[in-house]
Amino acid sequence: MNAPALTMPAPRVAPLKGCPVLRWGVVAPGGIATDFVNALHTHTDQRVIAVASRSVDRAREFARRHGIPRTHDDYAALYGDEQVQIVYIAAPHSEHRRLAIDAIAAGKHVLIEKPIGLSADEAREIAAAAGAAGVFAMEAMWTRFLPQTDVMLHLHEDGVIGDPRLIIADLGFAADPSEGGRLFDPTLGGGALLDLGVYPVWLSHLWLGVPTGVTALGTRTDSGVDEQSALVLDYPAGAQALLSTSIRVTSPGAASVSGSGGTLQIDPSFVFPGGFSAQRGDVRGHFVDDSGLHHRDGMAWQAAAVAQHIDDGLTESPLHPLQTSIEVLTTIDEARRQLSAAG
Ligand SMILES: NC(=O)c1ccc[n+]([C@@H]2O[C@H](COP(=O)([O-])OP(=O)(O)OC[C@H]3O[C@@H](n4cnc5c(N)ncnc54)[C@H](OP(=O)(O)O)[C@@H]3O)[C@@H](O)[C@H]2O)c1
Repeated sequence: MNAPALTMPAPRVAPLKGCPVLRWGVVAPGGIATDFVNALHTHTDQRVIAVASRSVDRAREFARRHGIPRTHDDYAALYGDEQVQIVYIAAPHSEHRRLAIDAIAAGKHVLIEKPIGLSADEAREIAAAAGAAGVFAMEAMWTRFLPQTDVMLHLHEDGVIGDPRLIIADLGFAADPSEGGRLFDPTLGGGALLDLGVYPVWLSHLWLGVPTGVTALGTRTDSGVDEQSALVLDYPAGAQALLSTSIRVTSPGAASVSGSGGTLQIDPSFVFPGGFSAQRGDVRGHFVDDSGLHHRDGMAWQAAAVAQHIDDGLTESPLHPLQTSIEVLTTIDEARRQLSAAG
């Protein structure tokens, strides 16, 4: 006789098409901005109508490639563009706080790439500015908006895994130090923890909340940023998260959530659209994201959710509120502090 199968609920996600449409402005047209605009224009009704670069040539070239009608050769001009409803900030981490606060001061909603700032204090500053201005603000933690994330949480609401007790997650990417770049540059917020570690730390926050203890061990690059680290996060009643992150090696991006009643194992890399396996005793199930969206095209889900939130009159996402960004960065602050103190 076959083992019984777990029934997978349908994802409760904003529809990619047919939901409210925002007029987006993109600030800092680098690597992720390219993926973001491709995802929106290919898979959603959302439209990027303006782009701003520090260089007029880069702005024009980006606009030409993506069919964006309006270009600005400085970021402030885009904040002042009356056609733009929401600004997507895709600059290096070190610039997020300043750019977000400038865009908010101009009355724009903001979606800010991860991590939202260099520290919990920077995240608090952004939250305070957005709160005072009454605009929508969110960190672009796009994995939160993927169908698989909702289905896992739905199974949890249905009691399938019981109390989450152990999160194991890694995220590493072998960056080439000889190429330099923002990952190795302390002045741009370089290092593994802020760039990649933010995902496993966010995942553990999603399942376990705020840790009571943080222990970090790791190495640093010659340029002085954190290179590879292992984190143990402790939670009340003995729950734990075991996390690792690296800019020295590419690791699988494996992640699992083990609870008192069952286990979820996310298909690697856990940050991308995909699937997961669920097991409760001898009852098993597998969810597969059949949307046809791969890798960073999954940012489309986040954009649709943001458009729906703003249409609903919200100033934060209930799925990824600013307090979550603050709490995740509080954990990263402490891990970075320990790695610095260790020399
Ligand atoms: N969600 C994801 O999967 C994902 C993936 C990769 C990166 N990200 C995030 O996106 C952000 C940008 O990463 P990226 O890889 O796209 O970076 P990137 O390719 O280096 O592009 C960043 C852009 O920021 C602008 N910029 C503004 N101030 C800058 C400064 N002081 N130094 C360098 N560039 C500056 C530049 O555009 P102009 O000079 O033309 O204005 C540059 O093209 C990071 O915070 C990162 O964490 C997210």
